Order: sequence, then C-alpha cells, then structure tokens
Amino acid sequence: MRPVGSPLPPTSSLPPLRTLECSTEEQVFSALQGLSALYCPFAFPLDNASDSHRKLLSAADTLVDSGYVSATEGDEDDDCDEGEDRLAALRADNFERSHAERWLTGFIARSEMLECFTSEDSRQRAVDQASWVLESFFASTADQDQQMQEELADYAREFSFPITKDDSQGPMTVDIRLNDGLAGMDSSQPDDVGLQSWGASIVVSKLLCQEPARFGLTAASLGPSPRIIELGAGTGLVGLVMAKLLPRLGISNPTVIATDYHPAVLENLRSNIKTNFPQLDEAPIEAALLDWASPNLEHPLDAPADMLIATDVVYAPEHATWLRDCSTQILGPDGTLWLVATVRQNGRFEGVSETVEAAFGATDRPAGKDGRRLTILHAERLEKSNGIGRGDESGYRLFRIGWA
Ligand SMILES: C[S@@+](CC[C@H](N)C(=O)[O-])C[C@H]1O[C@@H](n2cnc3c(N)ncnc32)[C@H](O)[C@@H]1O
Repeated sequence: MRPVGSPLPPTSSLPPLRTLECSTEEQVFSALQGLSALYCPFAFPLDNASDSHRKLLSAADTLVDSGYVSATEGDEDDDCDEGEDRLAALRADNFERSHAERWLTGFIARSEMLECFTSEDSRQRAVDQASWVLESFFASTADQDQQMQEELADYAREFSFPITKDDSQGPMTVDIRLNDGLAGMDSSQPDDVGLQSWGASIVVSKLLCQEPARFGLTAASLGPSPRIIELGAGTGLVGLVMAKLLPRLGISNPTVIATDYHPAVLENLRSNIKTNFPQLDEAPIEAALLDWASPNLEHPLDAPADMLIATDVVYAPEHATWLRDCSTQILGPDGTLWLVATVRQNGRFEGVSETVEAAFGATDRPAGKDGRRLTILHAERLEKSNGIGRGDESGYRLFRIGWA
C-alpha cells in the first residue's frame, strides 16, 4: 500500500489565521485536504462535494502542494513503512493536533468573512470539511477520553454561590465545578471565547441565587416543568446554576437546555454537565447545538421556551439581531428573554453593547406567531465585581425582554 504522503507539521504548514483573508481558495482547500489526509483515516467524502469543489480538491492535490499531500512519484515500497511511521508520529503529536484544532475552529469562525471563496457552495464545502476533521478529533477512544479528563482536571474551576431564600430546599449554596480556560486558549480569539466563563456569567449566576424572584424564578411564575434555554452558553455556568437552583426553589421538573454553536465549546459543555451531574439520565440539563444565525429547531429545541437567558453574547454588530430573530422563534408566548451585554469601552468591542437597543427597537423586526414583537421591557446596569471579569469590561447591561 502506498503511504498517504509526506505531511509536514500543521504548525509549519497551515496559513496563519490572522492573515487567512489573504489566502486563496486553493490554499484553503489544500490546507484542509492536508489536515484530512493527516488526521482522518478515510478520505473526505468527495461524493458529497460539488463538481467545482471536487475540481478544486483535485487541483489542490496536484498543483498546490501544501506539504501535506506531496506524494513523490517513484516512491518505492521500502519507503512506505518509514512514511507511515512518520505520519503516525505526526498524528500522535498533541502539540501539532492542538494547533490543527485551533486552526480549524478559527477557520470555521472566520469563514463567513473570508472573501477568497468563488461561491457560497465552496465556502460551505470548506466549512463542512473543516468540521469533519474537527469532529474526528472528538471521536476518541476510551484511553484518549481518560487522558483528556486528566488534562481537563488541570483547568477545573469551582464556584459556590449562596442562595438567599429562606425556605430553599437542601444546601444553602449552589456549587459548580467547570472545565474552564482550556490549555492553549487565547481569549482574544473569537473562536476561543466559549471555553471560559466570562464575567457576566459569574455576576448573573450570583444574582440568580441571591435574588431568584427578580428573574421570575418562582414556582408561581414559571409553573411546573418549565423549559429554560441558555443561548451561547460557553462553559454552561449559568445553565448549570439554574439546573441546581430551580429544584431548591421548589420549581418542579425543570428542563434546562444549554446551547452553543461551536463544536469544541459543546464538547466542553457536555463534559461540564457530566462533571456536575454524574447521573446524566437524571440531569435536568442537557447541551444542544443552536446557532443564532440559522436556528435548527429540532429536538430538544422543538418546544417553546418559558425563559431564555444569554450572558456576554453580544460582541459583534450582527449578534443582537441574530439573537432577536432566533429568540422570536423559540420563546413561548409568556416567556422572557434575559440578555446580559458586557460593556467594553475600549478596544474592538467598544460600543457593541449598544446594538441591543437598536435590534430590539427596529420597526422592521420580526413578529412572533401572535403578531407581538420582542421588545426591551426594562434595562439596568450591573456593576463589575472586584476580581471578576477581564480588564476591558466596565460593567454589564441586563435587559428584560418580552412580547409587546
Ligand atoms: C463571550 S462567550 C460567553 C459565554 C458564556 N455565556 C459566558 O458568559 O461565559 C460567547 C459565546 O457565544 C457563542 N456564540 C457565538 N456566536 C454564536 C452563534 N452564532 N450561535 C450560538 N452561539 C454563538 C460562543 O461559542 C461562546 O460560547
């Protein structure tokens, strides 16, 4: 059997993420094809690829040599074992794999903005291929899972929020343990933002436990079996707090669905749910994929939510509009959306929190089934707590949004 090729390490071959916009379509597909050849035992399912993409991939294999797939004409069988050993060593290199993973998540996060693609179809195919390779990283063996759990333990973070409700049932604190701030994470990168708990989620978690009634967390207002959906959950801190808090407040049979769109974030979220609810079958919380830009409302998101909650999810101009449109589809007729925008007065996120008013005040915003529109009913400022949140955060804006 011929060796797959002579791949070069991802660290020295992939085009840098920060200059990805200068890469050509061929270079992007070549890089993706190289990663597929290196990390996936089977080739990317080209049967699903469009003709143009198929042509590009085959051109990438032959003309644009990224260094991953440069099989040399005339290789002898003797070279095969050596080539396969090199490939296996490279595949097992955690540093290279972590770089490839970061590149893939970075590529997916930036893909909408890249102008190199000749068509939307090409862009989608590239994202599909990147997701396919990325997903293969998570299809790990039991041994790898064990190793991952040990590595994650190094980044465990614990929170304990006092409950100030006299008749709360059970312990007087909500205790949460999270995998937070994973190795190699760069929080300045948009694709890494969901792997840590942001200041807003900590401030809001504390408030939920201190003043549950302020958020309508009472049996009287929520009724039995309420459905609560967290949007852009990241590590899932807020959702996990809700899942532990609600039964203590006498709110029976709640369902909390913590959602995000990022594969690595969802993986970490599921792991956090398992850490806090080892008996997964009995956990009142589950994780689900939900992209605000194109919500797919299949199970478990196929029933209206009684409450939506989202912290630090507005950090690009389009986010507030996406959140509004997505919430319009999933919030029930008596439901409330609690949206917490972090105020950043410096840097590239400056002023983005102000887009919430613009989005929820726009006259052309979509209406729900009964013709009402999501509207800001109340807004207030939450102060930054000492030692919580990053330096560029100057406070938080809490919006109570409902139908009007
Ligand atoms: C700044 S983090 C906040 C995470 C968490 N809510 C917190 O406060 O710690 C923003 C989160 O929104 C998620 N996100 C960004 N764009 C999204 C989209 N279009 N659909 C769903 N989630 C998205 C990111 O993956 C990330 O987890």
